[in-house]
Amino acid sequence: MSISASNVPSLSSVTKYIDEDEHEKTKMALIFDKYNHRLATLPKERGWITENLYMYQGFWHQSKRRMSFETVMALQDTFNACPTDIYLATLPKSGTTWLKAIVFAIVNRNRYKNDSFPTHPLLISNPHNCLPFVETEIFRNTPTYVNDPHSPRLFATHIPYTSLPRSILDSGCRLVYLCRNPKDVLVSMFHFANKLRDKSRGPMRFEEAFELFSKGAMPIGPYWDHVKSYHNVSLKHPTKILFLKYDDMKVDTVNHVKRLSTFLGYPFTEAENDDGAVQEIVRMCSFENLREVNKHGDLREGIPNDAFFREGTVGDWTNHLTSEMSEILDQITNEKFHGLDILF
Ligand code: A3P
Repeated sequence: MSISASNVPSLSSVTKYIDEDEHEKTKMALIFDKYNHRLATLPKERGWITENLYMYQGFWHQSKRRMSFETVMALQDTFNACPTDIYLATLPKSGTTWLKAIVFAIVNRNRYKNDSFPTHPLLISNPHNCLPFVETEIFRNTPTYVNDPHSPRLFATHIPYTSLPRSILDSGCRLVYLCRNPKDVLVSMFHFANKLRDKSRGPMRFEEAFELFSKGAMPIGPYWDHVKSYHNVSLKHPTKILFLKYDDMKVDTVNHVKRLSTFLGYPFTEAENDDGAVQEIVRMCSFENLREVNKHGDLREGIPNDAFFREGTVGDWTNHLTSEMSEILDQITNEKFHGLDILF
Protein backbone atom coordinates (compact mmCIF):
# COMPACT_ATOMS: atom_id res chain seq x y z
CA MET A 1 0.00 0.00 0.00
CA SER A 2 1.25 3.48 -0.76
CA ILE A 3 0.12 6.56 1.12
CA SER A 4 -3.47 6.63 0.10
CA ALA A 5 -5.42 9.76 0.43
CA SER A 6 -7.79 8.22 2.89
CA ASN A 7 -5.06 8.25 5.49
CA VAL A 8 -2.65 10.93 4.41
CA PRO A 9 -0.24 10.06 5.93
CA SER A 10 -0.01 7.97 9.06
CA LEU A 11 3.36 7.04 10.54
CA SER A 12 3.33 3.61 8.86
CA SER A 13 2.41 5.00 5.46
CA VAL A 14 5.19 7.58 5.66
CA THR A 15 7.60 4.72 6.25
CA LYS A 16 6.12 2.74 3.35
CA TYR A 17 6.41 5.77 1.10
CA ILE A 18 10.13 5.85 1.72
CA ASP A 19 10.39 2.08 1.15
CA GLU A 20 9.07 2.35 -2.40
CA ASP A 21 12.42 3.65 -3.65
CA GLU A 22 13.35 0.49 -5.55
CA HIS A 23 10.27 0.56 -7.72
CA GLU A 24 10.75 4.26 -8.35
CA LYS A 25 14.24 3.67 -9.68
CA THR A 26 12.92 1.29 -12.36
CA LYS A 27 10.20 3.68 -13.40
CA MET A 28 12.68 6.56 -13.52
CA ALA A 29 14.95 4.56 -15.81
CA LEU A 30 12.02 3.90 -18.18
CA ILE A 31 11.08 7.58 -18.32
CA PHE A 32 14.66 8.73 -18.80
CA ASP A 33 15.07 6.20 -21.63
CA LYS A 34 11.95 7.47 -23.33
CA TYR A 35 12.79 11.19 -23.28
CA ASN A 36 16.56 11.46 -22.97
CA HIS A 37 17.16 11.51 -26.74
CA ARG A 38 15.74 15.06 -26.70
CA LEU A 39 18.79 16.20 -24.70
CA ALA A 40 20.92 16.58 -27.82
CA THR A 41 18.50 19.19 -29.18
CA LEU A 42 18.41 21.39 -26.04
CA PRO A 43 20.66 24.37 -25.22
CA LYS A 44 23.13 23.52 -22.46
CA GLU A 45 24.63 25.43 -19.52
CA ARG A 46 26.84 24.62 -16.51
CA GLY A 47 24.93 23.00 -13.68
CA TRP A 48 24.93 23.72 -9.95
CA ILE A 49 24.33 20.22 -8.60
CA THR A 50 24.42 18.12 -11.76
CA GLU A 51 27.08 18.77 -14.36
CA ASN A 52 24.76 20.48 -16.85
CA LEU A 53 21.44 22.23 -17.17
CA TYR A 54 19.29 21.99 -20.31
CA MET A 55 16.83 24.56 -21.55
CA TYR A 56 13.33 23.25 -22.19
CA GLN A 57 10.48 25.65 -22.95
CA GLY A 58 12.53 28.63 -21.78
CA PHE A 59 13.67 27.19 -18.42
CA TRP A 60 16.82 25.42 -17.24
CA HIS A 61 16.35 21.84 -16.08
CA GLN A 62 18.58 19.05 -14.87
CA SER A 63 18.63 15.73 -16.69
CA LYS A 64 18.08 12.22 -15.36
CA ARG A 65 16.97 13.44 -11.95
CA ARG A 66 13.61 13.52 -10.19
CA MET A 67 13.48 17.19 -11.13
CA SER A 68 14.48 17.10 -14.80
CA PHE A 69 13.34 18.01 -18.27
CA GLU A 70 12.52 14.32 -18.84
CA THR A 71 10.13 14.43 -15.87
CA VAL A 72 8.44 17.58 -17.15
CA MET A 73 7.98 16.00 -20.57
CA ALA A 74 6.57 12.80 -19.07
CA LEU A 75 4.15 14.77 -16.90
CA GLN A 76 3.04 16.85 -19.86
CA ASP A 77 2.30 13.64 -21.74
CA THR A 78 0.58 11.64 -19.04
CA PHE A 79 -0.47 13.53 -15.90
CA ASN A 80 -4.14 13.74 -15.03
CA ALA A 81 -5.14 16.53 -12.69
CA CYS A 82 -8.41 16.71 -10.76
CA PRO A 83 -10.34 19.95 -10.30
CA THR A 84 -10.10 19.47 -6.53
CA ASP A 85 -6.29 19.19 -6.53
CA ILE A 86 -4.20 21.84 -4.81
CA TYR A 87 -0.72 22.66 -6.15
CA LEU A 88 2.01 24.51 -4.27
CA ALA A 89 4.36 26.03 -6.82
CA THR A 90 7.80 27.41 -6.01
CA LEU A 91 11.22 27.94 -7.41
CA PRO A 92 13.72 25.82 -5.42
CA LYS A 93 14.93 27.54 -2.22
CA SER A 94 11.93 29.84 -1.95
CA GLY A 95 10.46 28.18 1.14
CA THR A 96 8.89 25.08 -0.43
CA THR A 97 9.50 22.92 2.64
CA TRP A 98 7.88 25.48 4.94
CA LEU A 99 4.87 25.95 2.66
CA LYS A 100 4.42 22.17 2.38
CA ALA A 101 4.42 21.85 6.16
CA ILE A 102 1.93 24.67 6.68
CA VAL A 103 -0.52 23.50 4.02
CA PHE A 104 -0.29 19.89 5.17
CA ALA A 105 -0.93 21.00 8.76
CA ILE A 106 -3.91 23.18 7.78
CA VAL A 107 -5.67 20.62 5.58
CA ASN A 108 -5.09 17.67 7.93
CA ARG A 109 -5.59 19.47 11.23
CA ASN A 110 -8.71 17.58 12.25
CA ARG A 111 -7.15 14.23 11.52
CA TYR A 112 -4.34 14.87 13.97
CA LYS A 113 -6.23 17.12 16.36
CA ASN A 114 -5.75 14.99 19.41
CA ASP A 115 -2.33 13.70 18.50
CA SER A 116 0.55 14.84 20.55
CA PHE A 117 4.25 14.31 20.10
CA PRO A 118 5.44 12.17 18.37
CA THR A 119 2.47 11.03 16.29
CA HIS A 120 1.87 13.98 13.99
CA PRO A 121 3.72 13.28 10.68
CA LEU A 122 5.39 16.69 10.78
CA LEU A 123 6.87 15.84 14.16
CA ILE A 124 8.53 12.69 12.88
CA SER A 125 9.17 13.16 9.20
CA ASN A 126 10.41 15.61 6.61
CA PRO A 127 7.57 17.73 5.12
CA HIS A 128 8.71 16.40 1.73
CA ASN A 129 7.52 12.96 2.87
CA CYS A 130 4.12 14.36 3.84
CA LEU A 131 3.26 16.30 0.71
CA PRO A 132 4.78 15.00 -2.55
CA PHE A 133 6.07 16.83 -5.59
CA VAL A 134 4.02 16.09 -8.67
CA GLU A 135 7.43 15.54 -10.31
CA THR A 136 8.09 12.55 -8.04
CA GLU A 137 4.56 11.14 -8.33
CA ILE A 138 5.19 10.11 -11.89
CA PHE A 139 7.77 7.58 -10.75
CA ARG A 140 5.52 5.86 -8.28
CA ASN A 141 3.98 2.47 -8.79
CA THR A 142 0.75 3.43 -7.12
CA PRO A 143 0.67 7.19 -7.16
CA THR A 144 -0.03 8.82 -3.85
CA TYR A 145 -3.73 9.40 -3.24
CA VAL A 146 -4.65 7.20 -6.20
CA ASN A 147 -7.62 5.51 -4.56
CA ASP A 148 -8.46 8.38 -2.33
CA PRO A 149 -12.14 9.05 -1.97
CA HIS A 150 -11.28 12.24 -0.11
CA SER A 151 -10.33 15.55 -1.58
CA PRO A 152 -8.17 17.37 -2.16
CA ARG A 153 -4.97 15.84 -3.41
CA LEU A 154 -2.05 18.03 -2.34
CA PHE A 155 0.99 18.37 -4.57
CA ALA A 156 3.99 20.65 -4.82
CA THR A 157 5.82 21.50 -8.01
CA HIS A 158 8.79 23.49 -9.27
CA ILE A 159 7.51 23.48 -12.87
CA PRO A 160 7.03 26.98 -14.33
CA TYR A 161 3.42 27.89 -15.04
CA THR A 162 3.97 27.85 -18.79
CA SER A 163 5.25 24.24 -18.69
CA LEU A 164 2.60 22.79 -16.38
CA PRO A 165 0.78 19.75 -17.79
CA ARG A 166 -2.27 20.81 -19.79
CA SER A 167 -4.57 18.90 -17.47
CA ILE A 168 -3.51 21.08 -14.50
CA LEU A 169 -4.17 24.26 -16.47
CA ASP A 170 -7.54 22.99 -17.70
CA SER A 171 -8.71 21.52 -14.41
CA GLY A 172 -9.41 24.88 -12.78
CA CYS A 173 -7.77 23.65 -9.58
CA ARG A 174 -6.29 25.94 -6.94
CA LEU A 175 -2.65 26.87 -6.85
CA VAL A 176 -0.46 28.65 -4.32
CA TYR A 177 2.75 30.31 -5.50
CA LEU A 178 5.46 31.24 -3.02
CA CYS A 179 8.36 33.44 -4.12
CA ARG A 180 11.32 34.91 -2.26
CA ASN A 181 13.81 37.73 -2.58
CA PRO A 182 16.11 36.72 -5.49
CA LYS A 183 19.27 37.46 -3.51
CA ASP A 184 18.25 35.09 -0.71
CA VAL A 185 17.26 32.45 -3.28
CA LEU A 186 20.72 32.75 -4.82
CA VAL A 187 22.47 32.38 -1.46
CA SER A 188 20.24 29.49 -0.37
CA MET A 189 20.72 27.67 -3.69
CA PHE A 190 24.48 28.20 -3.50
CA HIS A 191 24.70 26.47 -0.09
CA PHE A 192 22.25 23.74 -1.09
CA ALA A 193 24.18 22.96 -4.28
CA ASN A 194 27.45 22.71 -2.40
CA LYS A 195 25.88 20.22 0.01
CA LEU A 196 24.49 18.04 -2.77
CA ARG A 197 26.86 18.26 -5.67
CA ASP A 198 29.22 15.52 -6.61
CA LYS A 199 32.36 15.84 -4.48
CA SER A 200 34.55 15.15 -7.52
CA ARG A 201 33.49 18.52 -8.99
CA GLY A 202 34.81 20.39 -5.96
CA PRO A 203 32.85 23.13 -4.20
CA MET A 204 31.15 25.84 -6.23
CA ARG A 205 32.49 29.36 -5.66
CA PHE A 206 29.98 32.07 -4.82
CA GLU A 207 31.19 34.19 -7.77
CA GLU A 208 30.27 31.34 -10.11
CA ALA A 209 26.83 30.95 -8.53
CA PHE A 210 26.28 34.70 -8.89
CA GLU A 211 27.32 34.68 -12.54
CA LEU A 212 25.02 31.75 -13.40
CA PHE A 213 22.08 33.13 -11.38
CA SER A 214 22.41 36.58 -12.99
CA LYS A 215 22.11 35.12 -16.46
CA GLY A 216 19.15 33.02 -15.40
CA ALA A 217 20.96 29.68 -15.29
CA MET A 218 19.83 28.07 -12.06
CA PRO A 219 17.74 24.89 -11.74
CA ILE A 220 14.26 25.80 -13.08
CA GLY A 221 15.42 29.38 -13.65
CA PRO A 222 15.54 32.07 -14.84
CA TYR A 223 14.34 33.19 -11.42
CA TRP A 224 12.50 36.23 -12.81
CA ASP A 225 10.69 34.34 -15.56
CA HIS A 226 9.52 31.68 -13.10
CA VAL A 227 8.07 34.27 -10.73
CA LYS A 228 6.46 36.24 -13.56
CA SER A 229 4.91 33.12 -15.10
CA TYR A 230 2.78 32.67 -11.96
CA HIS A 231 2.37 36.34 -11.08
CA ASN A 232 0.76 37.11 -14.44
CA VAL A 233 -1.96 34.48 -14.03
CA SER A 234 -2.51 35.25 -10.36
CA LEU A 235 -3.58 38.76 -11.40
CA LYS A 236 -6.08 37.38 -13.88
CA HIS A 237 -7.38 34.59 -11.64
CA PRO A 238 -6.93 35.65 -8.01
CA THR A 239 -9.43 33.10 -6.73
CA LYS A 240 -7.44 30.29 -8.38
CA ILE A 241 -3.85 31.41 -7.76
CA LEU A 242 -2.69 32.80 -4.46
CA PHE A 243 0.62 34.63 -4.87
CA LEU A 244 2.68 34.84 -1.67
CA LYS A 245 6.12 36.04 -0.63
CA TYR A 246 8.39 34.21 1.81
CA ASP A 247 9.63 37.55 3.10
CA ASP A 248 6.08 38.68 4.03
CA MET A 249 5.24 35.27 5.46
CA LYS A 250 8.20 35.54 7.84
CA VAL A 251 6.97 38.93 9.08
CA ASP A 252 3.39 37.86 9.72
CA THR A 253 3.09 34.07 9.66
CA VAL A 254 -0.19 33.98 11.60
CA ASN A 255 -2.07 36.05 9.03
CA HIS A 256 -0.55 34.08 6.16
CA VAL A 257 -1.72 30.81 7.71
CA LYS A 258 -5.22 32.30 7.99
CA ARG A 259 -5.12 33.56 4.41
CA LEU A 260 -3.95 30.18 3.18
CA SER A 261 -6.62 28.31 5.09
CA THR A 262 -9.37 30.51 3.64
CA PHE A 263 -8.00 30.27 0.11
CA LEU A 264 -7.68 26.48 0.35
CA GLY A 265 -11.25 26.13 1.60
CA TYR A 266 -10.28 25.18 5.16
CA PRO A 267 -11.00 28.37 7.14
CA PHE A 268 -10.48 28.33 10.88
CA THR A 269 -13.65 28.38 12.93
CA GLU A 270 -14.18 30.88 15.69
CA ALA A 271 -13.65 28.13 18.24
CA GLU A 272 -10.37 27.18 16.60
CA ASN A 273 -9.25 30.80 16.60
CA ASP A 274 -10.10 31.04 20.30
CA ASP A 275 -8.23 27.80 20.98
CA GLY A 276 -5.04 29.06 19.32
CA ALA A 277 -5.16 26.52 16.46
CA VAL A 278 -3.45 28.93 14.08
CA GLN A 279 -0.62 29.65 16.49
CA GLU A 280 -0.19 25.93 17.05
CA ILE A 281 0.35 25.37 13.31
CA VAL A 282 2.76 28.31 13.14
CA ARG A 283 4.73 26.81 16.02
CA MET A 284 4.76 23.27 14.62
CA CYS A 285 5.94 24.51 11.22
CA SER A 286 8.48 26.99 12.58
CA PHE A 287 12.02 26.81 11.28
CA GLU A 288 13.32 25.88 14.72
CA ASN A 289 10.86 23.03 15.16
CA LEU A 290 11.23 21.55 11.68
CA ARG A 291 15.01 21.83 11.86
CA GLU A 292 15.02 19.94 15.14
CA VAL A 293 12.79 17.15 13.75
CA ASN A 294 14.97 16.88 10.64
CA LYS A 295 18.43 17.11 12.12
CA HIS A 296 19.22 13.44 11.39
CA GLY A 297 18.68 11.04 8.52
CA ASP A 298 18.27 11.37 4.79
CA LEU A 299 15.28 12.27 2.66
CA ARG A 300 16.84 9.88 0.19
CA GLU A 301 20.33 8.80 -0.74
CA GLY A 302 22.62 11.81 -0.95
CA ILE A 303 20.02 14.28 0.36
CA PRO A 304 20.23 14.76 4.13
CA ASN A 305 17.08 16.00 5.81
CA ASP A 306 18.94 18.89 7.35
CA ALA A 307 19.89 20.26 3.90
CA PHE A 308 16.47 21.94 3.79
CA PHE A 309 17.00 23.91 7.00
CA ARG A 310 19.92 26.33 6.99
CA GLU A 311 19.24 29.87 8.28
CA GLY A 312 15.55 30.38 7.56
CA THR A 313 15.87 34.16 7.62
CA VAL A 314 15.26 37.15 5.38
CA GLY A 315 18.34 39.05 4.23
CA ASP A 316 21.18 36.54 4.67
CA TRP A 317 22.30 37.80 1.25
CA THR A 318 23.96 40.75 2.99
CA ASN A 319 26.54 38.27 4.30
CA HIS A 320 27.40 37.01 0.82
CA LEU A 321 26.90 39.64 -1.90
CA THR A 322 29.26 42.55 -2.51
CA SER A 323 27.55 45.90 -3.04
CA GLU A 324 28.37 45.62 -6.73
CA MET A 325 26.71 42.19 -6.96
CA SER A 326 23.70 43.53 -5.09
CA GLU A 327 23.38 46.49 -7.47
CA ILE A 328 23.57 44.23 -10.52
CA LEU A 329 20.78 41.99 -9.20
CA ASP A 330 18.69 45.05 -8.26
CA GLN A 331 19.06 46.36 -11.76
CA ILE A 332 18.03 43.05 -13.37
CA THR A 333 15.11 42.70 -10.97
CA ASN A 334 13.91 46.26 -11.62
CA GLU A 335 14.02 45.67 -15.35
CA LYS A 336 12.37 42.26 -15.27
CA PHE A 337 9.68 43.22 -12.76
CA HIS A 338 9.10 46.70 -14.16
CA GLY A 339 5.46 47.69 -13.76
CA LEU A 340 4.67 44.64 -11.63
CA ASP A 341 3.73 44.75 -8.00
CA ILE A 342 6.52 42.39 -6.88
CA LEU A 343 8.62 44.14 -4.26
CA PHE A 344 10.90 42.67 -1.62
P1 A3P B 1 18.05 29.37 3.71
O1 A3P B 1 19.01 28.54 2.92
O2 A3P B 1 18.13 30.82 3.35
O3 A3P B 1 18.17 29.17 5.17
P2 A3P B 1 13.11 25.17 -0.05
O4 A3P B 1 12.28 24.56 1.00
O5 A3P B 1 12.33 25.78 -1.16
O6 A3P B 1 14.19 24.26 -0.50
O7 A3P B 1 13.83 26.43 0.63
C1 A3P B 1 14.80 26.26 1.62
C2 A3P B 1 14.93 27.56 2.37
O8 A3P B 1 13.80 27.70 3.26
C3 A3P B 1 16.16 27.56 3.26
O9 A3P B 1 16.58 28.92 3.32
C4 A3P B 1 15.60 27.05 4.57
O10 A3P B 1 16.39 27.35 5.67
C5 A3P B 1 14.27 27.78 4.61
N1 A3P B 1 13.28 27.13 5.49
C6 A3P B 1 13.07 25.82 5.68
N2 A3P B 1 12.11 25.62 6.58
C7 A3P B 1 11.70 26.83 6.99
C8 A3P B 1 10.73 27.29 7.94
N3 A3P B 1 10.01 26.43 8.65
N4 A3P B 1 10.58 28.61 8.10
C9 A3P B 1 11.31 29.49 7.39
N5 A3P B 1 12.25 29.13 6.50
C10 A3P B 1 12.45 27.82 6.29
